[in-house]
Amino acid sequence: MASHSVVLGVGGGIAAYKAAELARALMEHGVEVNTVMTGAAQEFVRPLTFAALTGRKVITEMFGTGSSDEVLASSVEHIRVAQENQLLVVAPATADLLARFAHGLANDFLTTLYLAFQGPVVLAPAMNTAMWNHPATQANIETLRRRGHHVIEPDEGLLACGTTGPGRLPEPQRIGYFVWRILAQRHDLDGETILITAGPTREPLDPVRFISNRSSGKMGYSLAEAAALRGARVILVSGPVQIPAPDGVELMQVQTASEMRAAVMSRLAESDIIIKTAAVADYHVANIPRQKVKKTAMRLSLELDPTPDILAEVGAELSRSGSGQLLIGFAAETENVVAEAKRKLQAKHCDMVVANNVSADGTGFESDENEVVLALRTGEIIPLPRASKRALADQILDEALKLRLALHQGR
Ligand code: CTP
Repeated sequence: MASHSVVLGVGGGIAAYKAAELARALMEHGVEVNTVMTGAAQEFVRPLTFAALTGRKVITEMFGTGSSDEVLASSVEHIRVAQENQLLVVAPATADLLARFAHGLANDFLTTLYLAFQGPVVLAPAMNTAMWNHPATQANIETLRRRGHHVIEPDEGLLACGTTGPGRLPEPQRIGYFVWRILAQRHDLDGETILITAGPTREPLDPVRFISNRSSGKMGYSLAEAAALRGARVILVSGPVQIPAPDGVELMQVQTASEMRAAVMSRLAESDIIIKTAAVADYHVANIPRQKVKKTAMRLSLELDPTPDILAEVGAELSRSGSGQLLIGFAAETENVVAEAKRKLQAKHCDMVVANNVSADGTGFESDENEVVLALRTGEIIPLPRASKRALADQILDEALKLRLALHQGR
């Protein structure tokens, strides 16, 4: 059974046929679609199209057409449909529908349902440019926005009426993805265990000194918070950082790369997704002096040995076992970002590498913002424009889930 169900309200505009593609796009995200068509929408597309696509009854009438029993049942159907669905998306939202929603008219099934509906509402307007720009429509849009509804701005382009300007219904896939993201918040990671490493490691030089790096842990902590909010059980293996662990997350504090390795390995089997944001020190002093090193020599050289590459070890193990667990690595680069991401993806058997240019201004280690490129095992490269680390966290999780679906379907 689909975990999400939405009402797709279809208005009477030339773009009504695109609502059929939207139904499909939603279903590809695993969403159950219950279609409600206005009378005008049925002039453009037949209900049968939606019934066949969604495999569900399409609601076209306020009071049904048959017996008095049916009339009685249908008279409360708008309440039932409003209660049983998590989101209402209206596409195309015509000027007439926007006006009726804005003013609370309830003269057909869709507008009555709208008033009874308490979940998130997504409106995708589509109409002639002059109608869109009309002060009446703009005032209605303003009212609906203020009410907290999500309005997806129409695209600009050549319209069916022959004019060019804003008014086109955006790509159904885009609307579908938007809807899915709203639905996805908090619920799409239910039942999943996610292991996240974060922060720097500290490699002691002697009892009082250590080598470390500038990692703040913000990216990993943002991912932990996002994943927890979306329902996951999160195990956060963290080096020393200055920020508090998010609520609802299991924190395992470590210092060195080898402690981090031990923590990760001990929790690997129970984890569905492993995300390694930690900036693990690459080298350490193998034999740490037991006493503080004194300032006696004129010049001091450090002899360093490599630390265990945890990501590479996990990657090798998962690819051997074919367990289907998803492995995401990070790559902090100062040049050749995409090429390095691809190289690390291959070398460490990852499903995704999130690469960022740590030398760019205002992004990277200590910043609240980041700008990253995702290199996927499918060969896809997805740039994620500059945004807060918290916002990027959700986008990375979104892409990870899409990737997992694609990888499982490709099996
Ligand atoms: N990593 C790890 N163990 C290490 C070093 C790195 O698990 N000893 C992981 C990091 O958590 C990150 C990824 O490997 O997910 C890439 O880290 P990065 O330092 O960018 O890559 P390196 O492999 O160390 O390559 P280089 O320093 O040469 O760029």
